[in-house]
Amino acid sequence: MSNQQLQQEINSRRTFAIISHPDAGKTTITEKVLLFGELIQKAGTVKGKKSGQYAASDWMEMEKERGISVTTSVMQFPYNDCLVNLLDTPGHEDFSEDTYRTLTAVDSCLMVIDAAKGVEERTIKLMEVTRLRDTPILTFMNKMDRDIRDPIDLLDEVESVLNIACAPITWPIGCGKEFKGVYHLQRDEIILYKSGLGHTIQDLQVIKGLNNPELDARIGSLADELREELELVQGASHEFDQELFLKGELTPVFFGTALGNFGVDHMLDGLTAWAPTPQPRDTNTRTVLPSEAGFTGFVFKIQANMDPKHRDRVAFLRICSGKYEKGMKMRHVRIGKEVQISHALTFVAGDREHVEEAWPGDIIGLHNHGTIKIGDTFTVGEDMQFSGIPNFAPELFRRIRLRDPLKQKQLLKGLVQLSEEGAVQVFRPIDSNDLIVGAVGILQFDVVVHRLKSEYNVDAMYESVNVSTARWVYSDDSKAMAEFKKKASQNLALDGGDNLTYIAPTMVNLNLSMERYPKIQFMKTREH
Ligand code: G4P
Repeated sequence: MSNQQLQQEINSRRTFAIISHPDAGKTTITEKVLLFGELIQKAGTVKGKKSGQYAASDWMEMEKERGISVTTSVMQFPYNDCLVNLLDTPGHEDFSEDTYRTLTAVDSCLMVIDAAKGVEERTIKLMEVTRLRDTPILTFMNKMDRDIRDPIDLLDEVESVLNIACAPITWPIGCGKEFKGVYHLQRDEIILYKSGLGHTIQDLQVIKGLNNPELDARIGSLADELREELELVQGASHEFDQELFLKGELTPVFFGTALGNFGVDHMLDGLTAWAPTPQPRDTNTRTVLPSEAGFTGFVFKIQANMDPKHRDRVAFLRICSGKYEKGMKMRHVRIGKEVQISHALTFVAGDREHVEEAWPGDIIGLHNHGTIKIGDTFTVGEDMQFSGIPNFAPELFRRIRLRDPLKQKQLLKGLVQLSEEGAVQVFRPIDSNDLIVGAVGILQFDVVVHRLKSEYNVDAMYESVNVSTARWVYSDDSKAMAEFKKKASQNLALDGGDNLTYIAPTMVNLNLSMERYPKIQFMKTREH
């Protein structure tokens, strides 16, 4: 491998994920993106809740039953001389920590907003997570074929609620039945919309120049309205600025309809032109540049039983530097061992293929027989640990109980393993023999009971528990810690990795404790 080849591969990579509120259109836009990437012949096969077809990304049996995406899959496709990696995140309301952690493995994000609804709750949460790394954000205002909110209001809302400046790249002409297309501010051209062609890549009609009389001929009085509105928009919004975009302070905004496959290509053009190539990553000893010759990467997700035909676990590894080659030896830093990786997987729209080589920004799947944990670093010899792959404080809690009390040992083993995988978090209160399971999304509870039964032969059930939030606790002051441990013991627990956690019955209780024990740090995230 020459340096030049490595640099070329890096320059062509774009690794991103989509963040949105359920129903905003993430699945639909994924289908169209794959259509442009020529990964699927006909859009509409990623997910079919009603048609009985399933998303390429729907691997687990459970998600098939429910018609939702539990897993995070990875899709790679070519577009505009780039190789784009799209890391899919669970789209349903019952999302999990995997969604959060996937966002730490990408270099940019696409935020999809339902333009009839504006900024919704899940989007706000996911944006908070992207802020941990100041990830650059592109925005797609979806569903322009419906009656939507005033586009200027939408931009205002994004700016005020999400605290990011908006730079419209395209501007919509009408909406709903009157949706005529968009004006591309940078190209000074109008791209006209035709309904009913969403399943194809369309030959679009383009009018050059805002003042072109052809525009008046085609859309009548809407042309003058557009010209007036654009003056207002250009006065009130920001111009695209690459530097601010890369800092996560400004987002380019595109308007369109995913269902009508209109505007998605403008977004992809923006992504390939502006989104960052694979970025340097911090470790506990130094910053790793993607252009370093030595291979490095970290595991951000572990998935069990992705394919019923292969009853195994796969660890998803993001390559940070160097090149993966089939059969290469790597150092699994945490356990201090060299391992030979003869058959890593890549993910092309759900087909697991064995990969010969992979580059920074790519995701490879490693077969895992229980030795790999989330956050693990792989190198070609150097001892270091990538940072910034956090656990997130769960927001939902249940006490877990056995139907057969003799299986306590298996239950604990299963829960600790599932928590190492990141499927769920487990807490053992210091003062009792309870086992409390914590999750970010409600579906994680079902997944855990299902997997305890099928993989550990343990029949478990849930009971409600009086815990509403958790924080990992630390202190540099050992005296203050000892005092805290004594006084607050009824609210303290150990998590799956034996880290001390404060489990609070209410937010009020948490706030009071934070006031009462100022020398204790209460953390919402914990690094692996
Ligand atoms: P999600 O993954 O973000 O949850 O959203 P998804 O793509 O499943 O879209 C949610 C619903 O919104 C779907 O309708 C989808 O067809 C619709 N939709 C997506 N993009 C557009 C758009 O640009 N315009 C319009 N009018 N609708 C759009 P559904 O009836 O809930 O499901 P389905 O039966 O079509 O799958």
